[in-house]
Amino acid sequence: MQLSPRLLRVLAILLAALPPRCCAGHHADSSSTVAGDRPSPPCSPADRAALLGFKAGVAVDTTGILATWAGGDCCGAWEGVTCDAATGRVVALQLEAPKAEVGRHYMQGVLSASLGGLEFLEALVVRDMARIAGAIPAALARLTRLRQLYLEGNMLSGAIPRSLALLRSLQYLSLAGNRLDGQLPPELGAVSGLEQINVARNRLSGAVPPSYENLSRLAYLDLGSNLFSGAVPGFLGQLKNMALVDLSNNSFSGEIPASLCTLRSLTDLSLSHNKLGGQIPTQMGTLRSLNSLAMDGNMLVGPIPASLLGLQKLWYLNLSGNGLSGPLPTGAGIALPSMVSMDLSRNRLTGDIGQLLRSLSVNRTSPQIVLAQKLEHLDVSENKIAGALPDLARGAGLRWLDISGNAIGGQIPSSISKLSGLERLDMSRNRVRGTIPASMAEMVRLRWLDLSRNELVGRIPDNFTRLTGVRHASFRGNKLCGQIPQARPFNLFRAAAYAHNLCLCGKPLPACRKIW
Ligand SMILES: *[C@@H]1O[C@H](CO)[C@@H](O)[C@H](O)[C@H]1NC(C)=O
Ligand SMILES: *[C@@H]1O[C@H](CO)[C@@H](O)[C@H](O)[C@H]1NC(C)=O
Ligand SMILES: *[C@@H]1O[C@H](CO)[C@@H](O)[C@H](O)[C@H]1NC(C)=O
Ligand SMILES: *[C@@H]1O[C@H](CO)[C@@H](O)[C@H](O)[C@H]1NC(C)=O
Ligand SMILES: *[C@@H]1O[C@H](CO)[C@@H](O)[C@H](O)[C@H]1NC(C)=O
Repeated sequence: MQLSPRLLRVLAILLAALPPRCCAGHHADSSSTVAGDRPSPPCSPADRAALLGFKAGVAVDTTGILATWAGGDCCGAWEGVTCDAATGRVVALQLEAPKAEVGRHYMQGVLSASLGGLEFLEALVVRDMARIAGAIPAALARLTRLRQLYLEGNMLSGAIPRSLALLRSLQYLSLAGNRLDGQLPPELGAVSGLEQINVARNRLSGAVPPSYENLSRLAYLDLGSNLFSGAVPGFLGQLKNMALVDLSNNSFSGEIPASLCTLRSLTDLSLSHNKLGGQIPTQMGTLRSLNSLAMDGNMLVGPIPASLLGLQKLWYLNLSGNGLSGPLPTGAGIALPSMVSMDLSRNRLTGDIGQLLRSLSVNRTSPQIVLAQKLEHLDVSENKIAGALPDLARGAGLRWLDISGNAIGGQIPSSISKLSGLERLDMSRNRVRGTIPASMAEMVRLRWLDLSRNELVGRIPDNFTRLTGVRHASFRGNKLCGQIPQARPFNLFRAAAYAHNLCLCGKPLPACRKIW
């Protein structure tokens, strides 16, 4: 399983929208408790007409939802429609493809401006309908009671209407996953109750409007995968409720504002894949709530601040693909106790692999390294890291260890077999010497094993034949000798996997001339 902050974010947004809190107890089914013994009124003719206007705008509906929109009482069996039991007014319209069927079923058509007639609407959700195209109707601005507007996962195009700023009750806005272009409307900065803005995966451009500094309740801002540019706004540091900021995959430039480091509630920060330069602010270690921090794919330089190692809740850290230099940070205390996935690859980091692992060791009294069971993924590949792999006492949770493309020397400790959960081990392109420990045959979860381009000598241990799950292996470019383990998969890999050694033989190479 590839742990991804984006997945968690998607879950968070789904939970936030399900079902709208505003309408609990107002559903037509609960009319008897809300309105006493009086029968609930029929749906308002005005609302019914507005809904039928929407239905008319949808040419094809393979979800079957709109087929239920028949008969006079829109508050009864019309799927996705929720009425206030006392007044018969529609308070929520929630149209979503059934979870298991996202992508298989769709609605094709446009969002009718008639939706603007649902004047008591508090929640409007048209999600994952895939083929709802055209513009967001400006008439939605008439829905002054609207608290939730989710139009994500459609094909909407054009600009975000400025008139949405008239939705003074709006708290949750998601327009993610459409084809919207133009800029963020500055007017939205006046919608002071906004808690969530998600416009990810569109074609929006320009800067974040300065007026958004007034969105003091904002907790969730996802602008990921657009064409935004300009500076990362320093005023984000004033929005004290901020929990998630995702600006990834845009063209933001300049430096990371130190003011961000004052956000005590921030749990997720992604600035990945932008054009950010300068250094990582040294105060980042004060972001105590941080769970995930991604700044990969920028042009950051300078050292990794040691304070980062003190983040107690951080489980995802990605700094891959920058110009970071200086020694790997090593902490005094136990570093990053919650860490699950750490990627420092493709930088210019120096320092000692042994010291890094030692600072991640959860048992400081043990001379050997004890990695937390939680740690699953560690990638420091393509740097200038030296040192040697240290003795390991425990680390069965680790599934991915990539230290390739560094200057790591020493021998492979036979205790590497303590990493019994390892699925991918890449130590290629280093200066590792000595023999391949036979204990590695105990690492039966291995699927990917790359020891190529080191200075290994001796044989490939015979009992590697136990490693039947290996799908990719390379021993190329060492000083290995003797018979390749003559069992699958080792005798079936391409010859290139064994090339440029001293005297390896046996399938897939030519047969050995003498018995090794
Ligand atoms: C924020 O709101 C205040 C008070 O309404 C206003 O004076 C100020 O201009 C707003 N800030 C921005 C950047 O629009
Ligand atoms: C980045 O955004 C572009 C559109 O701006 C999109 O095509 C691409 O898939 C995104 N990449 C990632 C990794 O999300
Ligand atoms: C870190 O980011 C890079 C791309 O910038 C990506 O290829 C890599 O998979 C990420 N690492 C992890 C552990 O998610
Ligand atoms: C830590 O290591 C020491 C020395 O190896 C050992 O005696 C102790 O039991 C270990 N503590 C834990 C919590 O594993
Ligand atoms: C592999 O072989 C070595 C030496 O022959 C032995 O000590 C070790 O226990 C073996 N390991 C497995 C998993 O068979």
